[in-house]
Amino acid sequence: MLRPKKFLLAPAAFGLAAVLFLAMPPLRPALQAAEEDEYYGLPEDAGREEVLAFCGSCHSLRLVIQQGLPRTEWADLLVWMYEEQEMEPLEPEEEVLVLDYLGKHVGPDSHKARLRERGILR
Ligand code: HEC
Repeated sequence: MLRPKKFLLAPAAFGLAAVLFLAMPPLRPALQAAEEDEYYGLPEDAGREEVLAFCGSCHSLRLVIQQGLPRTEWADLLVWMYEEQEMEPLEPEEEVLVLDYLGKHVGPDSHKARLRERGILR
């Protein structure tokens, strides 16, 4: 008796997906603005590509730049990402690049500095 019901689910799901898709366009401009700069303002330097590739794959880099940690604490966070968030451990030389970059450009004062640059903080 369950079969006919299951059979009906697929077209229903498709219909729902179509409705959601049609509802999307008004949302697009806002999303595009947020994604205009895929680096979220992070300056060009050795390791930036790696940070984007390795740290922007599961979540937005926004999550990363909203922190400001010294290098040693980025190292702790990376271990947490490996152990608790199922991140594939980086090769040692990739790890150095990523941690050097984060330590240099996403340090304790960087988030505030970025807010100041944008005129949000004075
Ligand atoms: C395999 C997926 C994955 C990768 C790759 C990954 N993360 Fe995460 N990260 C997560 C998850 C899942 C969370 C937790 C989100 C939550 O629950 O709020 C998280 C959370 C974070 C947070 C927020 C911590 C907090 O709670 O304040 C930071 C910062 C962060 N990640 C930085 C990084 C950095 C830097 C990298 C690259 C070195 C990275 N992540 C790579 C999955 C990943």
